[in-house]
Amino acid sequence: MTYQNDLFLRAARGEKTERPPVWLMRQAGRILPQYRELRAKFPDFKAFVKTPHAAAEATVQPVDELGVDAAIVFSDILVVPEAMGLNYEMIEAKGPKFPKVITGPKDIDILLDGDAAAAHLVYVWDAIAESKKRIDGRIPLIGFAGAPWTIFAYMTEGSGSKTFSVARRMLYQQPEASHALLQKITTTTIAYLKGQIAAGADLLQIFDSWAGELSPEQYRTFAVPYLRQIAEALPEIPKTIFAKGAWFALEDFSELPYQVVGLDWNTPAAFARARVGTEQVLQGNFDPCGLYAPPADIERNVHEMIRQFGPGKHIVNLGHGVYPDTPLDNVKAFVQAVKGFSW
Ligand code: CP3
Repeated sequence: MTYQNDLFLRAARGEKTERPPVWLMRQAGRILPQYRELRAKFPDFKAFVKTPHAAAEATVQPVDELGVDAAIVFSDILVVPEAMGLNYEMIEAKGPKFPKVITGPKDIDILLDGDAAAAHLVYVWDAIAESKKRIDGRIPLIGFAGAPWTIFAYMTEGSGSKTFSVARRMLYQQPEASHALLQKITTTTIAYLKGQIAAGADLLQIFDSWAGELSPEQYRTFAVPYLRQIAEALPEIPKTIFAKGAWFALEDFSELPYQVVGLDWNTPAAFARARVGTEQVLQGNFDPCGLYAPPADIERNVHEMIRQFGPGKHIVNLGHGVYPDTPLDNVKAFVQAVKGFSW
C-alpha cells in the first residue's frame, strides 16, 4: 500500500524525514464539534463504538479537520474485557464501570480468550476496513489495544482509580491467578490485533496507561513478558509501546521488538534516548496542558521540543491523550507548528 503522505510510516521505520510526522493520542473524540454531533445520535458510547460506519466517520474527522499525518481507529481499549465476557458500562462524564470484577481463579476460568473472544470484535475490524476506504490512501491508519496490565487493572479494580490498590493487591496475594488472567488477556489481544492487521491497520499501538502504578520489578514480572508475546506474535507491521509513567522500563523496552516507544511528558528526550539506544523511534511528548497556552507559545514550545529530540527517529505527539476541553484552534496550532518545521 502506498500513501499520498507516508511520513508517519517512514518515520516509524526509522527513516530520515524532512520533518517529524504528527498525530495526537485521543484525536478522534470530544475535541471536535463534529464528533459531539455524531455521538449525540447514539444512546451511549458503546452503541457508537459498535457501529462501524459511525466509528469510521469519527476516525476520519480529525484527518479532515486537523491535517494529521496518521489516523487512529475510533474504538476503546475496554472492548477486549467485554469480548472475554466481562461487561462494562461507560458512565457519562465519569468513565468506565464494570458491574462485576475478577476476584480469583473461578472468575478467570469462565472468561473466553484467544479467537473465541476476538470473534466478538468483528465490529472493530469492520470499522478499520471502512476507515481505510474513507481515508482513501491519504495517510496510514493506526490500530490499537490496551496492554495486558492496564486491561487487568480495569478488570480487577472495576473502574479508574487513584491508587489501583485492588489490582495491585491481587499481584501480591494471587500471583498465579494474576498470571493466568494476564495470559488470557494477551492471547485475546494477539487474536484481536491479527484481525486488525487483516482489516488494514498499518501500525499497532499498545496503550499501557497504568504502567506507572507498578514497581520496576513488578513491571518486569507482570507486564514486560506479555508485551513481548504480543510484539513477537505480530511481526508483519510496526508497533508502538506507550507506557505512561514507565520511565523505569525504557531499558526493558529497548530489548523488545517495538519499533516505536511512546513517552509521557515527564520523560526527557535525552533521558529516553540514553536508555533505549539509537535504534528505536521515540514518540511524544508534549504536555497536553501545554495546549492551553496561547498559540504563539505553542509554536515556540513545539519547535523547542522537536529540537530536543533531534533530527530523525521522532514522531510528534502529546505525552498523553488530548484533554476534551482543549480549544480546537490550539490543537490546530500544534499540528501546524510541526508542519511548519524543517530540519
Ligand atoms: O485516540 C483516539 O482518538 C481513538 C479512540 C480512543 C478512545 N479511547 C475513545 C474514547 C482510544 C485510543 C482510547 C484508549 C483508551 N480508553 C485508553 C488508553 C489511552 C489513555 O487515555 O490512557 C484508556 C485508559 C481508555 C479507557 C477509557 N475510555 C476511559 C478512562 C474513558 C472515560 C474517560 C475519557 O477519557 O473520556 C473512556 C471513554 C472514551 N474513549 C471516550 C472516547 C472518545 C469518551 C466517551 C464519550 O465520547 O462519551
